[in-house]
Amino acid sequence: MYPHIRNRRLRHSEAIRNLVRETHISPNDFLVPLFVVEGKGVKEEIASMPNYYRFSLDLLKDEVNQLWSLGLKGVLLFVKVPDNLKDNKGTEALNAEGLMQRAIKTVKDTCPEMLVMTDVAMDPYSSYGHDGIVANGMIVNDETNTVLAEMALSHAKAGADFVAPSDMMDGRIRAIREVLEQEGFHHTGIMSYSAKYASAFYGPFRDALDSAPVDLQDIPKDKQSYQMDPANRDEAIKETLMDIEEGADIVMVKPGLCYLDIVRDIRNAVDVPVAVYQVSGEYAMLKAAAEKGWLDHDAVMLEQVTAIKRAGAHMIASYFAKDVVKLIS
Ligand code: PBG
Repeated sequence: MYPHIRNRRLRHSEAIRNLVRETHISPNDFLVPLFVVEGKGVKEEIASMPNYYRFSLDLLKDEVNQLWSLGLKGVLLFVKVPDNLKDNKGTEALNAEGLMQRAIKTVKDTCPEMLVMTDVAMDPYSSYGHDGIVANGMIVNDETNTVLAEMALSHAKAGADFVAPSDMMDGRIRAIREVLEQEGFHHTGIMSYSAKYASAFYGPFRDALDSAPVDLQDIPKDKQSYQMDPANRDEAIKETLMDIEEGADIVMVKPGLCYLDIVRDIRNAVDVPVAVYQVSGEYAMLKAAAEKGWLDHDAVMLEQVTAIKRAGAHMIASYFAKDVVKLIS
C-alpha cells in the first residue's frame, strides 16, 4: 500500500495552501528606492527601467504620499548630481543645502513618519564615477572614509533616520558610527551594504544617476578593487561580521536573485536584520521579458520577491515595491 503520508494533501485547496504557506509578502517587507533630480515638475522615466522615474522635489512629495497610502513606509534616497558639481572628492555631497539634504527634508516635511534612509556614497558626486577618491590609478580607502563619515553626518543633520553606505571601503562603518556618536546622533541607524558584489546588474542604476565609472586612462574602469568578487561566498560572512562589529544596525546582500545562497548564509550567521537589494538589472530584465510577452510579469515578480524573503531577507529594497503592493492588496 502507498505510504500514509501524501504531501499533496497540504496542496489540495487554496485554503489549505494559505494555511501552510511559510513565506508571506506584505508592504512591511519593502524599502522603496527613489531617484531625485533638480528642477520643477520633473518626472522622467529611466530608459532602462520602464515605469521607474526620477522626480524633482515638488513631485517627490506626491510620490511619497502615494507610497505611504499604499502602506510603504520606508524610502532609500538617491540623487542625480549635475556634472558641473562633480569632483574627485565629492565636495558637493557635504553641502548642507545640496539635493540630498533637501530631499531628506522634503520627505520628512511631507510625511514625518516615513522612514528615510539615504545612500552614502561618492559615485553620484564623483567626476570619475567611483565610490572613493581616486589617486595614482587607485581608490584611496581611508581618505574616502573621512568623506563618507562627513556625508553621513550631513544626512543625519538633515533628518535621515538611517544612513546606508554603499561603497565597500574598509572600516567605513566604524568611521561613520564614531562621527555620529560624537555629534550626538545616537538614534541615527546604519544600514550597511556589507556584502556588495562587483555586479554587472547595476547598469540601469548607473544610467539613472549618470554615475558609471568614466573611461579615462589611469582611472579604474570597474569597481572590482572594492566591491566583492561574485565568485566568493565565505568572504561575504567575513565582510558582514566585520560591519556588525563596527556598528552596523542592518546588513545587506546585493544584488538579490543571483546571491540567495549568500542571503541564507548571512541570515544563519548573524543576529541583526538582513536586507537584500533587488537591483536595477533584475528589474530591467523582467520588464524587458514581460514587454516581449515572454514572461508573466506579475507572477514572476511575486515569485522573485517571495524567493528573496524565503532565502532569509527581513526586508527588500526593490523597484517592484509599488507593483507588488498593488498586486497583493
Ligand atoms: C553606488 C550604488 C550602486 C547601486 C546602489 N548604490 C551602483 C554601483 O555600485 O555602481 C546599484 C543599485 C541598483 O543597481 O539598483 N554606490
